[in-house]
Amino acid sequence: MKNGYTLKNRRILLGVTGSIAAFKVAAWVSTMVQEGGLVSVMMTNSATRFVSSLTFAALTSDTVYSDMFGEGQGEAMAHIHLPRAADVLLIAPATAHTLARLAHGMADDLLSTAVLASSVPVIICPAMNSQMLENPATQRNMTMLKELGHHVVEPGSGMLACGEKGSGRLPEWDEVREELLAVFSEKDLTGQKVLISAGPTREPIDPARYLSNRSSGKMGYALARVARRRGAQVTLVSGPVRLAPPPGVRLINVLTAREMQEAVSAHAASSSIIIKAAAVADFRPKNSSSEKIKKSESGLSLELTVNPDILAGLGRDRKKHQILVGFAAESNNHKAEGLRKLKDKNVDLMVVNDILGEKTGFDVETNQVTLISREHIEQLPLMSKEETAGGILDKVASLLQ
Ligand SMILES: Cc1cc2nc3c(=O)[nH]c(=O)nc-3n(C[C@H](O)[C@H](O)[C@H](O)COP(=O)(O)O)c2cc1C
Repeated sequence: MKNGYTLKNRRILLGVTGSIAAFKVAAWVSTMVQEGGLVSVMMTNSATRFVSSLTFAALTSDTVYSDMFGEGQGEAMAHIHLPRAADVLLIAPATAHTLARLAHGMADDLLSTAVLASSVPVIICPAMNSQMLENPATQRNMTMLKELGHHVVEPGSGMLACGEKGSGRLPEWDEVREELLAVFSEKDLTGQKVLISAGPTREPIDPARYLSNRSSGKMGYALARVARRRGAQVTLVSGPVRLAPPPGVRLINVLTAREMQEAVSAHAASSSIIIKAAAVADFRPKNSSSEKIKKSESGLSLELTVNPDILAGLGRDRKKHQILVGFAAESNNHKAEGLRKLKDKNVDLMVVNDILGEKTGFDVETNQVTLISREHIEQLPLMSKEETAGGILDKVASLLQ
Protein backbone atom coordinates (compact mmCIF):
# COMPACT_ATOMS: atom_id res chain seq x y z
CA MET A 1 0.00 0.00 0.00
CA LYS A 2 1.39 3.39 -0.94
CA ASN A 3 1.77 5.92 1.84
CA GLY A 4 2.55 9.50 0.99
CA TYR A 5 2.46 10.96 4.51
CA THR A 6 5.99 10.49 5.76
CA LEU A 7 9.53 9.75 4.61
CA LYS A 8 9.92 7.11 7.34
CA ASN A 9 11.72 4.02 6.00
CA ARG A 10 11.89 5.49 2.49
CA ARG A 11 15.21 4.71 0.84
CA ILE A 12 16.42 7.97 -0.64
CA LEU A 13 19.57 8.05 -2.78
CA LEU A 14 20.80 11.64 -2.77
CA GLY A 15 23.17 12.91 -5.47
CA VAL A 16 24.96 16.12 -4.51
CA THR A 17 26.69 18.18 -7.22
CA GLY A 18 29.09 21.13 -7.27
CA SER A 19 26.84 24.10 -6.45
CA ILE A 20 27.31 26.64 -3.71
CA ALA A 21 23.87 25.50 -2.45
CA ALA A 22 25.30 22.10 -1.44
CA PHE A 23 25.54 23.23 2.21
CA LYS A 24 21.75 23.68 2.32
CA VAL A 25 21.26 20.06 1.30
CA ALA A 26 23.31 18.92 4.30
CA ALA A 27 20.49 20.38 6.45
CA TRP A 28 17.91 18.53 4.32
CA VAL A 29 19.73 15.26 5.02
CA SER A 30 19.60 15.91 8.74
CA THR A 31 15.83 16.58 8.48
CA MET A 32 15.21 13.44 6.37
CA VAL A 33 17.17 11.26 8.79
CA GLN A 34 15.27 12.70 11.77
CA GLU A 35 12.01 11.81 9.98
CA GLY A 36 13.20 8.23 9.65
CA GLY A 37 14.33 8.41 6.00
CA LEU A 38 17.10 6.00 4.97
CA VAL A 39 19.46 8.29 3.12
CA SER A 40 22.55 7.31 1.09
CA VAL A 41 24.70 9.96 -0.52
CA MET A 42 26.66 10.16 -3.77
CA MET A 43 28.75 13.23 -4.55
CA THR A 44 30.35 14.48 -7.72
CA ASN A 45 34.03 15.42 -7.48
CA SER A 46 33.09 19.10 -7.68
CA ALA A 47 30.58 18.68 -4.85
CA THR A 48 33.36 17.52 -2.52
CA ARG A 49 35.02 20.92 -3.05
CA PHE A 50 31.97 22.62 -1.49
CA VAL A 51 31.01 20.31 1.39
CA SER A 52 33.18 17.58 2.82
CA SER A 53 31.96 14.02 2.31
CA LEU A 54 32.57 13.69 6.05
CA THR A 55 29.57 15.96 6.69
CA PHE A 56 27.21 13.64 4.81
CA ALA A 57 28.86 10.51 6.23
CA ALA A 58 28.30 11.82 9.76
CA LEU A 59 24.71 12.85 9.06
CA THR A 60 23.77 9.51 7.47
CA SER A 61 26.06 7.25 9.54
CA ASP A 62 26.97 5.69 6.20
CA THR A 63 29.67 5.67 3.54
CA VAL A 64 29.48 8.50 1.03
CA TYR A 65 30.12 7.42 -2.55
CA SER A 66 31.88 9.58 -5.10
CA ASP A 67 34.34 7.45 -7.05
CA MET A 68 32.96 5.05 -9.64
CA PHE A 69 36.20 3.10 -9.60
CA GLY A 70 36.66 3.20 -5.84
CA GLU A 71 38.11 0.01 -4.46
CA GLY A 72 36.86 0.43 -0.91
CA GLN A 73 34.65 -2.26 0.60
CA GLY A 74 31.20 -2.45 -0.93
CA GLU A 75 31.97 0.16 -3.60
CA ALA A 76 32.46 -2.17 -6.57
CA MET A 77 29.54 -1.63 -8.97
CA ALA A 78 28.10 1.06 -6.68
CA HIS A 79 26.57 2.69 -9.78
CA ILE A 80 24.30 -0.39 -10.09
CA HIS A 81 23.83 -1.34 -6.44
CA LEU A 82 23.00 2.11 -5.08
CA PRO A 83 20.03 2.89 -7.36
CA ARG A 84 18.79 -0.70 -7.06
CA ALA A 85 18.58 -0.29 -3.29
CA ALA A 86 16.68 3.02 -3.50
CA ASP A 87 12.99 3.97 -3.68
CA VAL A 88 13.77 7.36 -5.17
CA LEU A 89 16.76 9.35 -6.45
CA LEU A 90 17.07 12.99 -5.41
CA ILE A 91 19.64 15.11 -7.25
CA ALA A 92 20.16 18.27 -5.19
CA PRO A 93 21.58 20.71 -5.81
CA ALA A 94 21.79 19.94 -9.52
CA THR A 95 24.32 22.07 -11.40
CA ALA A 96 23.93 23.22 -15.00
CA HIS A 97 26.72 20.79 -15.84
CA THR A 98 24.92 17.84 -14.25
CA LEU A 99 21.63 18.79 -15.95
CA ALA A 100 23.47 18.70 -19.30
CA ARG A 101 25.04 15.33 -18.59
CA LEU A 102 21.80 13.75 -17.40
CA ALA A 103 19.79 15.19 -20.30
CA HIS A 104 22.18 13.53 -22.72
CA GLY A 105 22.39 10.22 -20.92
CA MET A 106 26.07 10.57 -20.15
CA ALA A 107 27.71 8.19 -17.72
CA ASP A 108 31.09 9.70 -16.97
CA ASP A 109 30.96 9.57 -13.20
CA LEU A 110 29.21 7.65 -10.42
CA LEU A 111 26.22 9.99 -10.09
CA SER A 112 25.34 10.18 -13.79
CA THR A 113 25.86 6.44 -14.27
CA ALA A 114 23.64 5.67 -11.26
CA VAL A 115 20.85 7.84 -12.74
CA LEU A 116 21.12 5.92 -16.04
CA ALA A 117 21.06 2.62 -14.19
CA SER A 118 18.05 3.58 -12.09
CA SER A 119 14.49 2.37 -12.56
CA VAL A 120 12.96 4.44 -9.74
CA PRO A 121 11.66 8.04 -9.92
CA VAL A 122 14.30 10.78 -10.17
CA ILE A 123 13.69 14.22 -8.63
CA ILE A 124 16.04 16.96 -9.78
CA CYS A 125 16.49 20.28 -7.93
CA PRO A 126 18.50 22.74 -10.06
CA ALA A 127 20.42 25.60 -8.42
CA MET A 128 22.53 28.13 -10.27
CA ASN A 129 23.03 31.76 -11.26
CA SER A 130 20.07 33.25 -13.22
CA GLN A 131 22.03 33.71 -16.45
CA MET A 132 23.09 30.07 -16.37
CA LEU A 133 19.48 29.02 -15.70
CA GLU A 134 18.01 31.19 -18.43
CA ASN A 135 20.60 30.10 -20.97
CA PRO A 136 18.73 28.30 -23.77
CA ALA A 137 21.06 25.32 -23.37
CA THR A 138 20.03 24.87 -19.71
CA GLN A 139 16.37 25.46 -20.53
CA ARG A 140 16.55 22.85 -23.28
CA ASN A 141 18.27 20.40 -20.94
CA MET A 142 15.54 20.87 -18.32
CA THR A 143 12.85 20.26 -20.96
CA MET A 144 14.67 17.12 -22.09
CA LEU A 145 14.88 15.86 -18.51
CA LYS A 146 11.12 16.36 -18.07
CA GLU A 147 10.53 14.53 -21.34
CA LEU A 148 12.61 11.65 -19.99
CA GLY A 149 10.06 11.45 -17.16
CA HIS A 150 12.20 13.00 -14.42
CA HIS A 151 10.60 15.38 -11.92
CA VAL A 152 12.35 18.74 -12.23
CA VAL A 153 11.50 21.05 -9.33
CA GLU A 154 11.46 24.66 -10.56
CA PRO A 155 14.17 26.75 -8.90
CA GLY A 156 13.02 29.58 -6.64
CA SER A 157 13.68 33.33 -6.95
CA GLY A 158 15.44 35.71 -4.61
CA MET A 159 18.96 36.63 -3.54
CA LEU A 160 21.57 34.35 -5.11
CA ALA A 161 25.01 33.46 -3.78
CA CYS A 162 26.62 35.46 -6.62
CA GLY A 163 25.08 38.62 -5.15
CA GLU A 164 22.43 39.02 -7.87
CA LYS A 165 18.69 38.80 -7.41
CA GLY A 166 16.79 36.48 -9.71
CA SER A 167 15.73 32.93 -10.38
CA GLY A 168 18.01 29.95 -9.79
CA ARG A 169 17.76 29.48 -6.03
CA LEU A 170 17.66 25.93 -4.76
CA PRO A 171 13.96 25.06 -4.18
CA GLU A 172 12.79 25.18 -0.57
CA TRP A 173 12.84 21.92 1.42
CA ASP A 174 9.07 21.95 1.97
CA GLU A 175 8.53 21.89 -1.79
CA VAL A 176 11.06 19.10 -2.32
CA ARG A 177 9.55 17.03 0.52
CA GLU A 178 6.17 17.36 -1.18
CA GLU A 179 7.71 16.04 -4.44
CA LEU A 180 9.18 13.09 -2.54
CA LEU A 181 5.86 12.30 -0.86
CA ALA A 182 4.05 12.65 -4.20
CA VAL A 183 6.26 9.85 -5.56
CA PHE A 184 4.85 7.59 -2.83
CA SER A 185 1.21 8.60 -3.37
CA GLU A 186 -1.46 7.02 -5.57
CA LYS A 187 -2.32 9.35 -8.45
CA ASP A 188 -6.05 8.64 -8.19
CA LEU A 189 -7.03 12.33 -8.25
CA THR A 190 -5.21 13.21 -11.46
CA GLY A 191 -7.37 15.50 -13.60
CA GLN A 192 -9.58 16.52 -10.67
CA LYS A 193 -9.99 20.18 -9.77
CA VAL A 194 -10.32 20.34 -6.01
CA LEU A 195 -11.54 23.42 -4.15
CA ILE A 196 -10.85 23.40 -0.41
CA SER A 197 -11.71 26.01 2.21
CA ALA A 198 -9.78 26.11 5.47
CA GLY A 199 -9.26 28.01 8.68
CA PRO A 200 -11.49 30.39 10.63
CA THR A 201 -13.04 33.60 9.42
CA ARG A 202 -12.53 36.89 11.20
CA GLU A 203 -15.50 39.21 11.64
CA PRO A 204 -14.47 42.78 12.53
CA ILE A 205 -16.00 44.60 15.50
CA ASP A 206 -13.80 47.67 15.01
CA PRO A 207 -10.28 48.24 13.55
CA ALA A 208 -8.69 46.53 16.58
CA ARG A 209 -11.10 43.74 17.51
CA TYR A 210 -12.83 40.83 15.84
CA LEU A 211 -14.94 37.73 16.41
CA SER A 212 -13.39 34.44 15.32
CA ASN A 213 -13.03 30.82 16.42
CA ARG A 214 -10.31 28.33 17.36
CA SER A 215 -9.84 26.75 13.93
CA SER A 216 -6.13 26.47 13.03
CA GLY A 217 -6.65 25.50 9.37
CA LYS A 218 -4.51 22.36 9.84
CA MET A 219 -7.17 19.93 8.57
CA GLY A 220 -7.90 21.95 5.40
CA TYR A 221 -4.21 22.49 4.68
CA ALA A 222 -3.54 18.76 5.16
CA LEU A 223 -6.33 18.01 2.66
CA ALA A 224 -4.77 20.45 0.17
CA ARG A 225 -1.32 18.87 0.47
CA VAL A 226 -2.53 15.28 0.24
CA ALA A 227 -4.90 16.02 -2.69
CA ARG A 228 -2.07 17.65 -4.59
CA ARG A 229 0.26 14.69 -3.93
CA ARG A 230 -2.46 12.46 -5.36
CA GLY A 231 -2.42 14.43 -8.62
CA ALA A 232 -5.23 16.96 -8.12
CA GLN A 233 -5.11 20.60 -9.15
CA VAL A 234 -5.90 22.32 -5.85
CA THR A 235 -7.31 25.75 -4.99
CA LEU A 236 -7.27 26.58 -1.28
CA VAL A 237 -9.41 29.41 0.06
CA SER A 238 -8.00 30.17 3.47
CA GLY A 239 -9.02 32.31 6.40
CA PRO A 240 -6.24 33.82 8.56
CA VAL A 241 -3.96 31.01 9.80
CA ARG A 242 -0.33 30.55 10.86
CA LEU A 243 0.56 27.85 8.36
CA ALA A 244 2.99 27.75 5.45
CA PRO A 245 1.30 27.86 2.03
CA PRO A 246 1.24 24.29 0.66
CA PRO A 247 3.61 24.09 -2.35
CA GLY A 248 1.96 23.70 -5.76
CA VAL A 249 -1.45 24.81 -4.49
CA ARG A 250 -3.25 27.99 -5.59
CA LEU A 251 -3.85 29.89 -2.34
CA ILE A 252 -6.51 32.59 -1.97
CA ASN A 253 -6.41 34.42 1.36
CA VAL A 254 -9.63 35.87 2.79
CA LEU A 255 -10.68 37.31 6.14
CA THR A 256 -14.45 37.40 6.56
CA ALA A 257 -17.22 34.88 5.86
CA ARG A 258 -18.51 37.07 3.07
CA GLU A 259 -15.06 37.23 1.44
CA MET A 260 -14.83 33.45 1.77
CA GLN A 261 -18.23 33.03 0.16
CA GLU A 262 -17.18 35.26 -2.74
CA ALA A 263 -13.91 33.39 -3.33
CA VAL A 264 -15.53 29.95 -3.03
CA SER A 265 -18.39 30.90 -5.39
CA ALA A 266 -15.93 32.22 -7.96
CA HIS A 267 -14.20 28.81 -8.18
CA ALA A 268 -17.04 26.40 -7.37
CA ALA A 269 -18.48 25.96 -10.85
CA SER A 270 -15.15 24.88 -12.36
CA SER A 271 -14.33 22.40 -9.55
CA SER A 272 -15.08 18.70 -9.64
CA ILE A 273 -14.61 18.24 -5.88
CA ILE A 274 -15.43 20.86 -3.22
CA ILE A 275 -14.38 20.32 0.39
CA LYS A 276 -15.59 22.88 2.91
CA ALA A 277 -13.24 22.39 5.84
CA ALA A 278 -13.29 26.04 6.97
CA ALA A 279 -14.87 26.99 10.29
CA VAL A 280 -16.92 29.89 8.99
CA ALA A 281 -18.26 32.21 11.71
CA ASP A 282 -22.02 31.77 11.93
CA PHE A 283 -22.50 35.36 13.07
CA ARG A 284 -20.86 38.74 12.56
CA PRO A 285 -21.36 42.06 14.32
CA LYS A 286 -24.29 43.81 12.68
CA ASN A 287 -22.36 47.08 12.56
CA SER A 288 -18.60 47.13 12.44
CA SER A 289 -17.23 50.42 13.73
CA SER A 290 -14.69 52.27 11.57
CA GLU A 291 -13.10 53.68 14.74
CA LYS A 292 -11.95 51.84 17.83
CA ILE A 293 -14.83 51.54 20.32
CA LYS A 294 -13.90 53.29 23.58
CA LYS A 295 -13.86 51.35 26.82
CA SER A 296 -16.89 52.15 28.92
CA GLU A 297 -17.84 51.30 32.49
CA SER A 298 -21.36 50.39 31.45
CA GLY A 299 -20.13 47.52 29.22
CA LEU A 300 -20.99 46.90 25.59
CA SER A 301 -23.70 44.94 23.82
CA LEU A 302 -22.94 43.66 20.37
CA GLU A 303 -25.77 42.96 18.01
CA LEU A 304 -24.94 39.99 15.77
CA THR A 305 -26.35 39.12 12.41
CA VAL A 306 -26.19 35.76 10.69
CA ASN A 307 -23.51 35.06 8.07
CA PRO A 308 -24.26 33.32 4.76
CA ASP A 309 -24.32 29.50 4.96
CA ILE A 310 -21.69 28.82 2.28
CA LEU A 311 -22.12 25.03 2.31
CA ALA A 312 -25.91 25.21 1.96
CA GLY A 313 -25.46 27.61 -0.98
CA LEU A 314 -23.04 25.20 -2.67
CA GLY A 315 -25.51 22.35 -2.10
CA ARG A 316 -28.26 24.38 -3.77
CA ASP A 317 -26.21 25.42 -6.82
CA ARG A 318 -24.18 22.24 -7.25
CA LYS A 319 -23.38 20.92 -10.69
CA LYS A 320 -24.08 17.40 -11.83
CA HIS A 321 -21.23 14.95 -11.05
CA GLN A 322 -19.69 17.40 -8.58
CA ILE A 323 -18.67 15.89 -5.22
CA LEU A 324 -19.49 18.12 -2.27
CA VAL A 325 -17.98 17.47 1.17
CA GLY A 326 -18.91 19.35 4.34
CA PHE A 327 -17.37 19.39 7.81
CA ALA A 328 -19.30 19.51 11.03
CA ALA A 329 -17.53 20.33 14.27
CA GLU A 330 -19.81 18.97 16.96
CA SER A 331 -19.68 18.70 20.71
CA ASN A 332 -22.59 16.21 21.02
CA ASN A 333 -25.03 14.11 18.93
CA HIS A 334 -22.34 13.71 16.27
CA LYS A 335 -24.04 11.16 14.05
CA ALA A 336 -27.51 12.69 14.24
CA GLU A 337 -26.13 16.15 13.46
CA GLY A 338 -24.01 14.79 10.59
CA LEU A 339 -26.98 12.98 9.07
CA ARG A 340 -29.19 16.04 9.40
CA LYS A 341 -26.61 18.29 7.69
CA LEU A 342 -25.96 15.71 4.95
CA LYS A 343 -29.64 15.97 3.98
CA ASP A 344 -30.32 19.62 4.70
CA LYS A 345 -27.26 20.86 2.85
CA ASN A 346 -27.50 18.40 -0.04
CA VAL A 347 -23.91 17.16 0.22
CA ASP A 348 -22.34 13.78 -0.64
CA LEU A 349 -20.21 13.41 2.46
CA MET A 350 -20.21 14.94 5.92
CA VAL A 351 -17.02 14.72 7.96
CA VAL A 352 -17.94 15.01 11.61
CA ASN A 353 -15.36 15.65 14.27
CA ASP A 354 -15.55 15.96 18.01
CA ILE A 355 -14.29 19.35 19.11
CA LEU A 356 -14.25 18.32 22.77
CA GLY A 357 -11.76 15.46 22.32
CA GLU A 358 -8.21 16.09 23.56
CA LYS A 359 -6.62 14.74 20.39
CA THR A 360 -9.30 15.76 17.88
CA GLY A 361 -10.59 19.03 16.54
CA PHE A 362 -8.98 22.43 16.95
CA ASP A 363 -5.27 23.14 16.63
CA VAL A 364 -3.94 19.63 17.34
CA GLU A 365 -1.92 17.44 14.99
CA THR A 366 -4.33 14.49 15.10
CA ASN A 367 -7.99 13.96 14.34
CA GLN A 368 -10.67 11.31 14.54
CA VAL A 369 -13.61 11.76 12.24
CA THR A 370 -16.80 10.00 11.27
CA LEU A 371 -17.56 9.92 7.55
CA ILE A 372 -21.27 10.05 6.79
CA SER A 373 -22.40 9.47 3.23
CA ARG A 374 -25.86 8.51 1.95
CA GLU A 375 -24.94 4.83 2.02
CA HIS A 376 -22.42 4.49 4.84
CA ILE A 377 -21.34 5.67 8.24
CA GLU A 378 -17.71 4.96 8.95
CA GLN A 379 -15.50 5.99 11.82
CA LEU A 380 -11.84 6.52 10.98
CA PRO A 381 -9.24 5.80 13.66
CA LEU A 382 -7.32 8.50 15.53
CA MET A 383 -4.60 9.51 13.07
CA SER A 384 -2.47 12.47 11.98
CA LYS A 385 -4.44 15.15 10.13
CA GLU A 386 -2.68 14.18 6.86
CA GLU A 387 -3.67 10.52 7.32
CA THR A 388 -7.21 11.66 8.11
CA ALA A 389 -7.11 13.75 4.92
CA GLY A 390 -6.04 10.58 3.09
CA GLY A 391 -9.03 8.67 4.53
CA ILE A 392 -11.44 11.43 3.48
CA LEU A 393 -9.95 11.55 -0.03
CA ASP A 394 -10.18 7.72 -0.31
CA LYS A 395 -13.90 8.09 0.31
CA VAL A 396 -14.15 10.98 -2.19
CA ALA A 397 -12.31 8.88 -4.80
CA SER A 398 -14.78 6.02 -4.27
CA LEU A 399 -17.72 8.44 -4.62
CA LEU A 400 -16.25 9.71 -7.92
CA GLN A 401 -16.69 6.24 -9.33
C1 LIG B 1 32.14 29.07 -5.98
C2 LIG B 1 31.45 28.32 -7.07
C3 LIG B 1 30.08 28.18 -7.01
C4 LIG B 1 29.41 27.48 -8.02
N1 LIG B 1 28.05 27.36 -7.92
C5 LIG B 1 27.39 26.74 -8.91
C6 LIG B 1 25.97 26.62 -8.86
O1 LIG B 1 25.32 27.06 -7.90
N2 LIG B 1 25.34 26.03 -9.88
C7 LIG B 1 26.01 25.52 -10.96
O2 LIG B 1 25.35 25.02 -11.87
N3 LIG B 1 27.36 25.60 -11.03
C8 LIG B 1 28.05 26.19 -10.04
N4 LIG B 1 29.42 26.27 -10.11
C9 LIG B 1 30.12 25.65 -11.23
C10 LIG B 1 30.23 24.13 -11.05
O3 LIG B 1 30.88 23.83 -9.84
C11 LIG B 1 30.95 23.52 -12.24
O4 LIG B 1 30.18 23.70 -13.41
C12 LIG B 1 31.28 22.07 -12.03
O5 LIG B 1 31.89 21.58 -13.21
C13 LIG B 1 30.04 21.25 -11.77
O6 LIG B 1 30.36 19.86 -11.72
P1 LIG B 1 29.33 18.74 -11.31
O7 LIG B 1 28.06 19.02 -12.00
O8 LIG B 1 29.94 17.47 -11.78
O9 LIG B 1 29.20 18.75 -9.84
C14 LIG B 1 30.13 26.94 -9.10
C15 LIG B 1 31.51 27.08 -9.14
C16 LIG B 1 32.17 27.76 -8.14
C17 LIG B 1 33.66 27.87 -8.22
